[in-house]
Amino acid sequence: MLILGIETSCDETAAAVVRDGSEVLSSVIASQATLHAQTGGVVPEVAARAHVEVILPVIERALAEAHIDLKQIDAIAITYGPGLASSLLTGVTVANTLATFSDKPLIGVNHILGHIRANWLEREEQEIQYPVVTLTASGGHNEIVLLESAATKPKLLGETRDDAAGEAFDKVARMLDLGYPGGPAIEKIAKLGSLSADSLLPRAWLLPKDISRNFNSVEVGERLRAGRLTLTSFDFSFSGLKSEVRRRVQNKKLNQQQIANLAAEFQVAVVDVLATKLFLVSKHYQAKEIHLAGGVSANKFLRKQVQKYSAQLGITLRHPTKMSYCTDNAAMIAGAAHWLYQKTPNKYQKLKLLDVDPNLNI
Ligand code: KG4
Ligand code: ZN
Repeated sequence: MLILGIETSCDETAAAVVRDGSEVLSSVIASQATLHAQTGGVVPEVAARAHVEVILPVIERALAEAHIDLKQIDAIAITYGPGLASSLLTGVTVANTLATFSDKPLIGVNHILGHIRANWLEREEQEIQYPVVTLTASGGHNEIVLLESAATKPKLLGETRDDAAGEAFDKVARMLDLGYPGGPAIEKIAKLGSLSADSLLPRAWLLPKDISRNFNSVEVGERLRAGRLTLTSFDFSFSGLKSEVRRRVQNKKLNQQQIANLAAEFQVAVVDVLATKLFLVSKHYQAKEIHLAGGVSANKFLRKQVQKYSAQLGITLRHPTKMSYCTDNAAMIAGAAHWLYQKTPNKYQKLKLLDVDPNLNI
């Protein structure tokens, strides 16, 4: 089955042609990163206008690179949420129109499900062993989900209560004047930084209140992993960490080394929480695989840390087979659409035009 996927939920305009949910025939991504670097972040109206300008050429190129004519496509897949309303609207309008005039099934895809299914791209379905625990960490969302079997819906186990991990990377990079997107910039400069034991940044572990006062936040992580403390929740919170970085930067002129040190400390603090919660969830649910997904899964330090914990648990770690499948892309949307279609093909026999849902949950 050939699916044309389209993605415009944030600041990447993307289209892809994917066969049977995993074989990527083309994946075209027009990034707006340079445009948003000027403002240090995404301005929704600017993003939406840029989508309108490039969406049709991006779709045409995806078809051309796949050597596929629109007539040969079996279904059209589109991200309808969560994301920026005005950005989502561009893709959804184009997909509604394409599906109507070409008389093809239209499959609405949840962006988070797309990130989860990115780990199936260029892999054999049978390779994956369940239960799978997936960490999705992006600019707009941050979840831990459980996939109990190939057929079941992902179950949400934890999500961010404030900023997503990628958003925290972007905001801290802005405070340190490192540019946009912040994740890769922080990862790069953090390599030059060093950690000092007495300037620990706080981790929001979400422990019972009376316990958290007794240990510093690094010791808490060690105790959690050793099973000597338990969490109240698998949710995340990064706003306290971000505020602490702001406090250390405010009204000071940091030199390059101090910036690198702070970037390194920040990265370690975020990764400590993400990797430890992933370890605890995977142990609790006796997962056979851990998957990393979303823009932050491109981070090598995160991968290394999670690799260490999955080796301790004796389970497989997977991340998307290409870096370009970590950040927003349309191949993952086509991949997720294939999975949805296989489950309930009848649902898509009669064309139902889609609305955007910016606050869609997994
Ligand atoms: O999945 P994505 O492309 O878009 C959303 O759905 O939000 O994720 C983008 C986010 C940005 O916040 C970016 O800073 C972060 O992923 N990111 C990284 C890295 N590469 C991208 N964060 C940490 N380390 C990276 N190497
Ligand atoms: Zn995303």
